[in-house]
Amino acid sequence: MKTILPKATLLIVEDDPLVRQSMAFFLENIGYHVLQAQNGQEGLALFIEKNPDLMILDLQMPGMSGIELLAAIKSDLPSIPTIVVSGTGSRDDVIATLKLGAWDYLTKPIEDMAVLEHAVTQALGKARLITENKRYQLHLEEKVSQRTAELERREQDLKMTLISIVDVVASMVEQRDPYTAGHERRVTSLALAIARQLELDEERYEGLGLAATIHDLGKVAIPSEILSKPGKLTSIEYQLIQTHAQAGYDILSRGTAEFPWPIKTIVHQHHERINGSGYPLGLSGPDLLIESRILAVADVVEAMASHRPYRAALGIEVALAEITRGQGVIYDSDVVTACLALFANKQFSLESS
Ligand SMILES: [Fe+2]
Repeated sequence: MKTILPKATLLIVEDDPLVRQSMAFFLENIGYHVLQAQNGQEGLALFIEKNPDLMILDLQMPGMSGIELLAAIKSDLPSIPTIVVSGTGSRDDVIATLKLGAWDYLTKPIEDMAVLEHAVTQALGKARLITENKRYQLHLEEKVSQRTAELERREQDLKMTLISIVDVVASMVEQRDPYTAGHERRVTSLALAIARQLELDEERYEGLGLAATIHDLGKVAIPSEILSKPGKLTSIEYQLIQTHAQAGYDILSRGTAEFPWPIKTIVHQHHERINGSGYPLGLSGPDLLIESRILAVADVVEAMASHRPYRAALGIEVALAEITRGQGVIYDSDVVTACLALFANKQFSLESS
């Protein structure tokens, strides 16, 4: 079945009035809206003003030639079908017009107007397919970016929910164990300051902050009399306290939802030491996440510098001397360097965190 696009506007640029008018008459007769220009300049002006669906043009015209007209609108050519109709164009001219983006080439005189009709129908059909394809692509891109934005929003919502759950858990832990109230907050501040110093990437930085906030979560499994015991701990009591790293990991492993950060692993490893002398697993070096190595140092510095139920605060100098002594042996060397630099340069203070 023949496809006719009756409302399409065609622009004919042809200096020979007889040829131009006969083409126009024929094309109008089969339902097209036809614009006529008798030279390149007029054609260009009409092209800009009327934005036709298709252009039929002669090559040899006084003033601006067909090739010059094609060159002038070259940037728009991929989207507009152009048919060159010429009787005098050389082979080079034909190649030049095709290179400039012409879609078809007909030889004058056109003895059978059905040939012109066929060329116009074909070109308009192809143009419509291109337009539909572009629209579809655009629609697809819009859909993809909408879905991406939606996923990002959901991921952000999920993160915010997890962050608020972590906050609730942290305040529960602190409520139960007032002596360490503020400990997790100060450890978090120091750990994050060290992470910044080490230029830890944003995603890991975020996970470290959350893990630090609840790193002693496992202490909920330890009797509060032991946690707040003012005197020296017995060896059994000390061993019991040491179970909190595993207990924290176990609690965080119970839920079905996975955190987008390795929070439970960081919590699990915060008392491990790089030479394998820590607990609960005695992991060493490369088996420890950088977040865990940072948290370990921040935890030790804060714990030694602050007051504890069983002893007075030892002070920051003693704490820094301890990590210096263990640098590269039990504590990560780079982490210790970063931590010492923070205090040496007065970029950080536990009192103000
Ligand atoms: Fe701990």
